[in-house]
Amino acid sequence: MKTIIEPFRIKSVEPLRKRTPEERSRLIRNAGFNLFLLNAEDILIDLLTDSGTSAMSTNQWAAMMRGDESYAGSESFLRLKRAVEDLTGFKHVIPAHQGRAAERILFSVMCRSGHVVPNNAHFDTTRANIEFTGARAVDLMRSEAADTQARLPFKGDMDLEALEGLIESEGRERIPLILCTVTNNSGGGQPVSMANLEGISAIARRHSIPFYLDACRFAENAWFIRQREPGYENASPREIARKMFALADGCTFSAKKDAFANIGGFLCTNNDSLARQEKDLLILTEGFPTYGGLAGRDLEAIAVGLTEVLDPGYLEYRIASTSYLGRHIADHGVPIVEPPGGHAIYIDAARMLPQIPRHEFPAQSLAVELYRHAGIRSVEIGSVMFGDHAKNELLRLAIPRRVYTQSHIDYVVEAILEVAARKDSLQGYRIVEQPHFLRHFSCRFEPV
Ligand code: F0G
Repeated sequence: MKTIIEPFRIKSVEPLRKRTPEERSRLIRNAGFNLFLLNAEDILIDLLTDSGTSAMSTNQWAAMMRGDESYAGSESFLRLKRAVEDLTGFKHVIPAHQGRAAERILFSVMCRSGHVVPNNAHFDTTRANIEFTGARAVDLMRSEAADTQARLPFKGDMDLEALEGLIESEGRERIPLILCTVTNNSGGGQPVSMANLEGISAIARRHSIPFYLDACRFAENAWFIRQREPGYENASPREIARKMFALADGCTFSAKKDAFANIGGFLCTNNDSLARQEKDLLILTEGFPTYGGLAGRDLEAIAVGLTEVLDPGYLEYRIASTSYLGRHIADHGVPIVEPPGGHAIYIDAARMLPQIPRHEFPAQSLAVELYRHAGIRSVEIGSVMFGDHAKNELLRLAIPRRVYTQSHIDYVVEAILEVAARKDSLQGYRIVEQPHFLRHFSCRFEPV
């Protein structure tokens, strides 16, 4: 049969609450037109993020009951450690309360003022944590990837020539590590090919620079490799993922994505001396190295999730359902980042709303309108989030894992097409209040 169904049935449900368009107009005005400042109960379909929003399985909930809450030497940690070692092959597994905690510890130990950290594209917290140490974060996407309409199979690939050039111009000693984000979240949820990871790894080894993966969505990346890269069509997602990790010296990981956990993360490294320093810092701010700011039950949920996410039936459904949303809006004229990504669809708002200049935030305007019209929450990934570093003005519709059914997605498609039909009436916004760091979380807007 060709129909791909949700590979699960529903045992526990959470009611959705509906507001009227008039109520939503008032609520979004009170929130300063910033969707992060809305209450979740006022949202119908929440596509703000795929992070920490997964539905856990019966096996994860069952495993949580055996969570060992011992302060030191918890059995739950040993189970997680074995699961991570088996998947990644890395020598040290350091738990942390989420991805950015792992990032902060890694960069605090490795980066200094004057350093430069290359990545295919840094996510916002990654960039902020690097810059907080005084180092500079540099994105090295291939130039073809800047065209949102180019349908490249591995649009997340790093520009290897640019990487060589950067090492040459900055000098090896100023580059404490090379990062690669799989899949590339900032640039459309696009995958990185195994060939590109091999290329980065070879360059890193040649210059004796450590290579780390930002591995949040490693399983989705592995599935794209299986589908699109010659030679991997018969490999299992686990085999592909193992091969990806084997090319690196360590990773940061947010378990809130491809481990179906609502909280958690970890940092891995093969370097004994770094691991020692990282654990010292961990104790200072996160907790003892066998829990790292998490409860034993959280460690259990992550361990189980890491296995479930590599199920080919799940990954086939996951990637197909994201693509379903993308194709149904793009084939009706809404410009998206092509091809559809793994965890999200990104609408190219600058292309869709040419009447709104970049400094009036076209993607924010679209986000506000989708909320007012249909109660859908999405997120701006453009000049609000990245300021002058923004390459595109994108609106991200991130799909929580195992949460929404196809009829929810059909509703989202209908809503987007209805807003698109009157796109000429949408207006820009200006920022009237903002903090120093990561302004998108709390700034307030008003219509221009
Ligand atoms: N790296 C990438 C590529 C991410 O997408 C995220 C989080 C992080 C690191 C940080 O992980 O949230 O556990 O601290 N991305 C979420 C998102 C927030 O909505 O894309 P975290």
